[in-house]
Amino acid sequence: MEQIIEKTLCYVKEYFENESSGHDYFHTLRVYKMAKHIAAEEQANMNVVLLAALLHDVDDFKLSPTTSKNKDNARNFLKNNGVLDCDIELICKIIDEVSFKGTDSKIPDTLEGKIVQDADRLDAIGAIGIARAFAYGGNHNRVMHDPDIKPSLNMNEVEYRSHISTTINHFYEKLFTLKDLMNTKTAIKLAESREQYMKEYIQEFLDEWDGIK
Ligand code: ADP
Ligand code: NI
Repeated sequence: MEQIIEKTLCYVKEYFENESSGHDYFHTLRVYKMAKHIAAEEQANMNVVLLAALLHDVDDFKLSPTTSKNKDNARNFLKNNGVLDCDIELICKIIDEVSFKGTDSKIPDTLEGKIVQDADRLDAIGAIGIARAFAYGGNHNRVMHDPDIKPSLNMNEVEYRSHISTTINHFYEKLFTLKDLMNTKTAIKLAESREQYMKEYIQEFLDEWDGIK
């Protein structure tokens, strides 16, 4: 088991070498570490959790639109490294269910899928989540904040992917919804303190914006 995890770590390191959009190697590494932590608490199939966490973004539509449907990058890597077909199917299904799609998001069928989804979503909130949101906003030429542009709540996948908004609105459109979407007890607890931290940050930001502080 350890050997395949080592190999997968090397594979994703190389894969994400020139990525700076918020889907980078260090994001994958954090999701891997968090998934490992949650899986140990929740008694899940560790091997499946770790492989799915490490490979969860290698077929992401934004990075790799042509392989995204069938998870070809993950599938080929696992096949070439002798992972059992049944585990490959399980891992690809987990990867498919992981991503946030507004009201079209899925609740994974398996405990292992729930854990990887929680780990990925935890990385979108808290101190790192704040940094990633502003990095994404800068990367996509979005303004930080505009009080005249109101957040759009309850968007479906198409609306969520296509609408143009501000980075502060992203907190209301996605980040503040994630705590209640966590699947595992371990993640819910972590999400509560990360959300609290973000709420304080946004209050501070808006007070400074209004010249109150
Ligand atoms: P996922 O891994 O669920 O596909 P995304 O690709 O949507 O996540 O987002 C990657 C990172 O960029 C996350 O931290 C996310 O919160 C952030 N992000 C996504 N969309 C926006 C946006 N419109 N404004 C600011 N940050 C965003
Ligand atoms: Ni991710």
